[in-house]
Amino acid sequence: MRAAGSERRRSGDQRPFCRVVLRRGMADTNRVFLLGERPEGTPDRDVFELDERDVPEPGPGEALVRTLYLSVDPYMRGRMSAAESYAEPWGVGEPLRAGVVGEVVESNGAGFEPGDVVTGRLQWADYATAPGTELREVDPDHGPISTALGVLGMPGRTAYFGTREVAEPKPGDTFVVTGAAGAVGSVAGQIAKLSGARVVGFAGSDEKVEFVEDDLGFDACINYNETDDYRAALSEAAPDGVDAYFDNVGGPITDAVFELLNVDARVAVCGQISLYNATETPTGPRKLPRLIATRARVEGFLVRDFEPRAEAATEQLSEWIQSGAIDYRETVTEGLESAPDAFLGLFEGENIGKQLVKVADREE
Ligand SMILES: NC(=O)c1ccc[n+]([C@@H]2O[C@H](COP(=O)([O-])OP(=O)(O)OC[C@H]3O[C@@H](n4cnc5c(N)ncnc54)[C@H](OP(=O)(O)O)[C@@H]3O)[C@@H](O)[C@H]2O)c1
Repeated sequence: MRAAGSERRRSGDQRPFCRVVLRRGMADTNRVFLLGERPEGTPDRDVFELDERDVPEPGPGEALVRTLYLSVDPYMRGRMSAAESYAEPWGVGEPLRAGVVGEVVESNGAGFEPGDVVTGRLQWADYATAPGTELREVDPDHGPISTALGVLGMPGRTAYFGTREVAEPKPGDTFVVTGAAGAVGSVAGQIAKLSGARVVGFAGSDEKVEFVEDDLGFDACINYNETDDYRAALSEAAPDGVDAYFDNVGGPITDAVFELLNVDARVAVCGQISLYNATETPTGPRKLPRLIATRARVEGFLVRDFEPRAEAATEQLSEWIQSGAIDYRETVTEGLESAPDAFLGLFEGENIGKQLVKVADREE
């Protein structure tokens, strides 16, 4: 990670006049993370370049938002690369963008009041401007404001729609989910459980296995780092085979799950994180003959396709949280400067539940 601010602003430069009235607790400079370079394979800290800029001014119809929480997500790896992906690539030297929960500092006809808590896709920065039309108010009655980036935000909705409308677990089914202790997987497994399925997860540590089995009520969870024979481990945990599979990971674990698919199984391809840093196109999928025998359906999906029904999903997830029907966890690093490590940690399995970065406290 390189701090580029000092290079970009010559020492002794006078900062241009900034019309933003500095409120209590508001910094006069804005730290912004830029894409320093495109990663080859597994990204490292050189991908992130820290710049210091003036706090931007909101244009007509825009609000100035102070970042409180910032989300780091696996799909951002795709945006760092120029390769074709469903997410448009970021340009080198451009600010990185993320789901943010923040506080409106100033509104220039954006339809918000100072102090409103909003969420939107903003820069990895202390402050950012956005058109009011691209911001949504966070309803504190739904849950703590950070959950708007996790269980009540994009990852929660991914779990909700991917489970209910793509994997479609039914009572008595065996539902398997990879990345079981992560933001999406932990919620997907609990929703499947509410549907009456037997739920088996794959996760990367004993601590995660304990979390999904003991706290979230999964029927079983396999620590995939403790076995080389995923198929044998899954046969034991899912003796009746697999009826619904929610795939966050891909690779050899998915190969093993395919071998155990039952007739009419449904596979929801949500993510393939084990392949995001691959430098060569992986071979496969290799287990397709199993699809002929089982007439299984394999379907990729994108949460954004369900956007028109996002509000209904959030309401339902919030109801489940408030009634205790589903639980969630967040892993939170402190300070904007911790965002690169928080992002890189996703590929090392450092997070349990949703990985967030806490950037600032709300103004009292
Ligand atoms: N389709 C959509 O619209 C959509 C929307 C959101 C997210 N997604 C996808 O859903 C998946 C989960 O996202 P998330 O936000 O919930 O992330 P997450 O699961 O909270 O974090 C990523 C987790 O992936 C696991 N992992 C990392 N490298 C791995 C590898 N090589 N093999 C196996 N597991 C690995 C790690 O857990 P372990 O310790 O268990 O390895 C890590 O904690 C990602 O693939 C993401 O791209 C898709």
